[in-house]
Amino acid sequence: MKTVTVSLGDRSYPIHIEAGLLPRAAEHLASLSRGRRMAIVTDENVRPHLAVLQASLEAAGVASEAIILPPGEKTKSWAMLSQVCDRLLELGIERSDHVIALGGGVIGDLVGFACSIVKRGCRFVQIPTTLLSQVDSSVGGKTAINTSAGKNLIGAFHQPAMVLIDPDVLDTLPARQVRAGYAEVVKYGLIDDFAFFEWCEANAPALLAGDADARVYAIAHSVAAKARIVAADEHETNGIRALLNLGHTFGHALEAEAGFSDRLLHGEGVAAGCALAFRYSARQGLCERQDAERVAAHLRAIGLPDGLAAAGIDAPSATLVEHMKHDKKMAAGTLPFLLARGIGQTYLDKTVDLADIAAFLDTEPR
Ligand code: GLY
Repeated sequence: MKTVTVSLGDRSYPIHIEAGLLPRAAEHLASLSRGRRMAIVTDENVRPHLAVLQASLEAAGVASEAIILPPGEKTKSWAMLSQVCDRLLELGIERSDHVIALGGGVIGDLVGFACSIVKRGCRFVQIPTTLLSQVDSSVGGKTAINTSAGKNLIGAFHQPAMVLIDPDVLDTLPARQVRAGYAEVVKYGLIDDFAFFEWCEANAPALLAGDADARVYAIAHSVAAKARIVAADEHETNGIRALLNLGHTFGHALEAEAGFSDRLLHGEGVAAGCALAFRYSARQGLCERQDAERVAAHLRAIGLPDGLAAAGIDAPSATLVEHMKHDKKMAAGTLPFLLARGIGQTYLDKTVDLADIAAFLDTEPR
């Protein structure tokens, strides 16, 4: 088993990663239960994993109660938040109880937020069941719901007490969803770790084919990178955590144009966004054109979109820039962009002119 620690003083927590961990989850959870019934919040699609988790708890003498929500992004809503909070209160949750969030990013974000406000904050454990949530959203304490004004605009920072990651749960996911999650893996190489990018180039096919060692290595490396970044900038105030948004500003515009629908999954938007960020950087003379080409070639090789055309986006540049203006990172009329001086050398640039972004997007094939 690999264990990575997120170092945040008295809120530090371990992330345990091991193939076959879910059936033995009670080894980590029994002591947290303090002899009380544990609440598990999950969604309909995760029922098979719920059964495995509950069997593990039961064998260890830990009673549990499941709250099963509808799957999908719409579940990150005020209505579901209030439903989960009410149910947790009905179950008699106390501040020192640990609620289990079993699912992908939607469940993790919603349950984390509910736990940040129930009784002014109770504890929770993340058991992420998608690659994207395993390498990104389950770690770092960002929690949120969506509202009519946009995605993730209402939320709180609330760190989990533990994260349990079993790569075997990825076996039951559609290949497209795992591929989309992989965008957040390779992102760590692009941000500040050229050697990991090279590892990704060599090992992504095995990882996506389900190779157990490749999965554990990629997940552990990714969460270690995220743990370092979160420890250095928990609340995204000094520019370090913002590095995790590489590809997200372009990607957000593409996702918005696709109506935040299955037409373009979040990770697919991030992949195309990373390729665009590198091409824009090359156009500005910040990085070598061959670096941008290498990033795009890798994304293409594994079946992720490397630009607008591959993402199925044919909107005019002005429309895409309009979407960017609604990005929540917009501050004092400027939008910070993650740009690159090379692979593994990204930085936050607050001087990018959106007119220049539009001119760049005009040059991108539709
Ligand atoms: N997913 C970006 C962050 O956690 O900061």
